[in-house]
Amino acid sequence: MLDESYIQIAIELAKKGKGKVSPKPLVGSLLVKNDKIIGASYRNSPDEISPEIIAIEGAKENTEGSTLYTNLEPCSCSQKEFDSLDRIIDAKPGKVVIGAVNCNRFFGGNSVKKLKKAGIEVITGLLEKECYELNRFYFKHTISSMPFITLKMAATIDGKIADNSGNSKWISSVESRSMSHQLRSVHDAVLIGYNTVKKDNPQLTVRLVEGRNPKRIILDSDLKLSLHSDLIQKNYDKNLIVVTSKSNRKRKKKLAKFEMNGVDLIFAPQKSNKDLDLTAILKKLGEKNITSVLVEGGGKIFSSFINEKLEDEILIFFGPKILGKGYSLTNGFNVKSLSKALKYYIKDYDKIGDDLLVRLIRR
Ligand SMILES: NC(=O)c1ccc[n+]([C@@H]2O[C@H](COP(=O)([O-])OP(=O)(O)OC[C@H]3O[C@@H](n4cnc5c(N)ncnc54)[C@H](OP(=O)(O)O)[C@@H]3O)[C@@H](O)[C@H]2O)c1
Repeated sequence: MLDESYIQIAIELAKKGKGKVSPKPLVGSLLVKNDKIIGASYRNSPDEISPEIIAIEGAKENTEGSTLYTNLEPCSCSQKEFDSLDRIIDAKPGKVVIGAVNCNRFFGGNSVKKLKKAGIEVITGLLEKECYELNRFYFKHTISSMPFITLKMAATIDGKIADNSGNSKWISSVESRSMSHQLRSVHDAVLIGYNTVKKDNPQLTVRLVEGRNPKRIILDSDLKLSLHSDLIQKNYDKNLIVVTSKSNRKRKKKLAKFEMNGVDLIFAPQKSNKDLDLTAILKKLGEKNITSVLVEGGGKIFSSFINEKLEDEILIFFGPKILGKGYSLTNGFNVKSLSKALKYYIKDYDKIGDDLLVRLIRR
């Protein structure tokens, strides 16, 4: 089999760790000797030793002269990890084939250098684009210290996210809603604005598919979130984060009630228009090792992220419906002429139930 085919297997293995390994990257590794896979593993939790080493230790044959395939350069972000490369060197593979080199400016490329210095042939850059795409959350966080931002919305084909009375149940199909839950299960956090809580009383948990709950983040400048909301009443896993204005630090009684319900509070500065400062919030989330955020609305929140160029990709589930007047997906957004319109390209698209899912990246 070709090197590329084995890297493809490493990618498929790595995908099994989705939603379980953050803030570490997704990694799949296999050892091949005489065109036979003699060991394989993938990262399944952030705490376990690296999959390359598990693959070596579980190998069914002598590893000398084998080829190690991995979608990502073996990690060297800590001295411990850098030292553990010796266990790969001790296994005496003849060749190491790496999909993508780690692009962290502090440690990226270090493992490749160490392996080469030990006399091992190293090949990099196989299915490189796919490998970077697979770990796009990790790379955004490791490079910028901010989470990867996915804006996810359900819209009619004329771009409305709710009717005139603010009702948005349901624009998209049941299949799209299941997929939205699946997206929640692989992002570290979901985020919505206060108005959406008030209107929809959502839970923001994963219920329609198997998977773990993400952290749930509410932007609520004035601490208006009701203690009777489902978000507070059903905060069983203590994953709720309320972001509020710094000026609320003095409202001790109210803050104590939130804390008694297991709410984690983040205090953020406000901008001149009173909106919470998104860049400051994202930096704080990055510090908490939140590597990806699924922004679920509503219109004002989408507008703010787009206005401030903070989104990395936009996912729109278009339901084949028309509302005419209604609530626009970018409420509070106004570009004066078509020539100044924000431009995106369609990264991919799919039919989900009766809906069209489009993934957009800014040009
Ligand atoms: N179809 C969909 O995909 C979808 C998804 C979600 C919601 N919806 C619908 O959207 C409607 C609600 O949307 P909405 O536009 O009225 O409100 P929203 O975007 O849910 O919330 C906006 C509120 O968030 C708070 N906020 C704090 N910082 C902000 C910032 N930097 N930028 C923007 N907002 C910030 C502000 O309230 P404070 O000043 O009180 O903090 C602001 O008024 C509902 O009808 C809901 O059903 C549809």
